[in-house]
Amino acid sequence: MRSDTALGAIGNTPMVRLQGFEPEGGAEIWIKLEGGNPTGSYKDRMAVSVLTRAMERGALRPGDRVVEYTGGSTGTALAFVAAVLGLRFTAVFSDAFSDSKRQAMEAFGAEVLVEPSDGTITPELIQRMKARAYALAEEPGSFYADQFGSPDVRAGYAPMGQEIAARLGCVDMLVSAVGTGAALMGTADGLAEAGQTPQVIALEPLQSPLLTTGQGGPHKVEGVGVGFEPPFLDRDRVSGIRAIDQDAGFAMCRRLAAEAGVFGGGSTGLNVAAAVELAGELGPGKRIVTFACDSGAKYLGGHIYG
Ligand SMILES: Cc1ncc(COP(=O)(O)O)c(C=O)c1O
Repeated sequence: MRSDTALGAIGNTPMVRLQGFEPEGGAEIWIKLEGGNPTGSYKDRMAVSVLTRAMERGALRPGDRVVEYTGGSTGTALAFVAAVLGLRFTAVFSDAFSDSKRQAMEAFGAEVLVEPSDGTITPELIQRMKARAYALAEEPGSFYADQFGSPDVRAGYAPMGQEIAARLGCVDMLVSAVGTGAALMGTADGLAEAGQTPQVIALEPLQSPLLTTGQGGPHKVEGVGVGFEPPFLDRDRVSGIRAIDQDAGFAMCRRLAAEAGVFGGGSTGLNVAAAVELAGELGPGKRIVTFACDSGAKYLGGHIYG
């Protein structure tokens, strides 16, 4: 059934090697182009996993309302999958995130509630969004998608690990900026199922170094650096955590688009800036994999692409 609908377009995204970005004598850098998913982000993988599994369990029925607080990518993915499955969706959003993400959610028929901000993503704002979503989810006929808690979120990324293993075989290091940590850990799970156990490196913006110093702060990298411990980040499985300067990430976004045709958002820039650093440290004959988490088309007119 799923392959007869738009849900069949989720996953099996291409991978490209960023040879021109590899330091002399460094490791190979490969990037999975997740902007190729239907809503332009890897979040489609978790949305289809969460909603279809909840329907299979009978926890969610056609016509029910799905609720989530979101910076927009998760919300757009949930709105898309909900539309296909005959579910309603309410997003608690904020004007700190791209307005185009609000428009995309509304295009898929979602109700979008906007929490006001001073233009930056702060722990206080996230807490306010969360409280509003929790209250809505208490209403009858509502289902809380729980992007920060549901095991179905992490499980939704296992196929990405399997796709990477099928494409590349051996992988030495997996690198990704973390929001919930689900994409990084779920992909590592899928790689492990395929017999690959690379080093796993988590990233956060240097402007909000909560994981590396204990102190978060305002930053502008959408989808990551959420201001609390990422619930799916398994510190026993992670080999290292790095804080990467957001401006180096944004500059990397522009370089990736102009020199490799890889068009991503701020988290993609952070990922590749870190991968270049790590490729130099890892040395030749090794292979690093990272993600172009979403499409740069979502960020046109913003601070990354002007
Ligand atoms: C653009 C973008 N990049 C990266 C992430 C982080 O993914 P995860 O929550 O799986 O760690 C998100 C999550 O919202 C995102 O929207």
